[in-house]
Amino acid sequence: MSSKRVLVTGGLGFIGSHTVVALQQEGYEVVIIDNLSNSSIDVLGGITHITGKTPEFENIDLRDKTAVKDFFEQYQDIEDVIHFAASKAVGESVTNPLLYYENNISTLVYLLQELNKKPSSRFIFSSSCTVYGQADELPITENAPVKKAESPYGNTKQIGEEIIQDTCKVNVDFKAIALRYFNPIGAHSTAEIGELPIGTPQNLIPFITQTAIGKRKELSVFGDDYPTNDGTAIRDYIHVMDLAEAHVKALSRLINQNEKSNYEVFNLGTGKGNSVLEVINSFEKVSKEKLPYKIVGRREGDVIAAYADTTKANEDLGWKANRSLDDALGSAWKWQKVVQEREEKEEN
Ligand SMILES: NC(=O)c1ccc[n+]([C@@H]2O[C@H](COP(=O)([O-])OP(=O)(O)OC[C@H]3O[C@@H](n4cnc5c(N)ncnc54)[C@H](O)[C@@H]3O)[C@@H](O)[C@H]2O)c1
Repeated sequence: MSSKRVLVTGGLGFIGSHTVVALQQEGYEVVIIDNLSNSSIDVLGGITHITGKTPEFENIDLRDKTAVKDFFEQYQDIEDVIHFAASKAVGESVTNPLLYYENNISTLVYLLQELNKKPSSRFIFSSSCTVYGQADELPITENAPVKKAESPYGNTKQIGEEIIQDTCKVNVDFKAIALRYFNPIGAHSTAEIGELPIGTPQNLIPFITQTAIGKRKELSVFGDDYPTNDGTAIRDYIHVMDLAEAHVKALSRLINQNEKSNYEVFNLGTGKGNSVLEVINSFEKVSKEKLPYKIVGRREGDVIAAYADTTKANEDLGWKANRSLDDALGSAWKWQKVVQEREEKEEN
């Protein structure tokens, strides 16, 4: 338990909002910075309904260096930052790379510049399994080599990790953990908060739930000729609340000075891979809906299979993903129905 104030950037987004809930439930005071570029202010109400507590909120664009500086002058006690804010659409990053380099790199640099003015500070960074590309060995350990990024988005995660690592080398009082997420899915069990994809979802689960609710005609399964059991691609789908709880563990590892070095990297996944067809079957089972889908060609840039070796996170963070794929898909479906109801109300 701690009553320390923690800054959560991007705290109204998908993973950020669930992490704010987990932090508040562990007794942390949370201050959120978000510019609402990919989220809604209503998420604040969702968080409050779950925890009974409204986090402080600052509508700041982290690309505004002066605003970032002013924030830390106003909140001088803040030494702990969990940095989610970033742009994350892989396809958009290919067509608009400079937006991605600006939003994902300059924001990181401005935050680190302010934190490095403090005698000590702690930083948790949202990285991604995308840094591994198609790994040579499965499951993927943290020692697997980082492969050349397939997209500007992926590159921002690699560069981001390097920036943090270089900062840790010169400032031993600055401590950081990069968390490499596998595939976060699902929603809070109350369906007060969840994923809110803008436009056509790039990820499998929101596409599935939007198809099942009738918003999309059918799901395209990209490729059934991969060298996997059923021919479809394999990913490690992790429930967003398991992921959120891992952030709390990572933060307390730094606060309690349990780290082995001032820069550490952890994989966050379940350790189990599921194929696209397995996900569809699981979804149909938990939702009791028939999902219309068709098999189409492979999608460029998709890897065949990726799932985590979670030994390091299990042992060093004392964390394990506990929730099942069925749980995650059930929560995503419950959330989709809430979103649909809200949209119908707005239309009437
Ligand atoms: N969702 C995934 O599949 C996934 C996988 C691996 C890594 N990540 C990383 O995790 C982090 C969170 O992802 P998410 O899925 O919750 O995304 P999200 O888009 O739901 O949340 C990001 C939040 O940051 C805010 N934001 C963006 N740019 C900002 C800026 N300049 N200033 C202030 N706020 C800003 C957005 O409004 C949004 O609320 C991102 O860094 C993402 O790259 C996500």
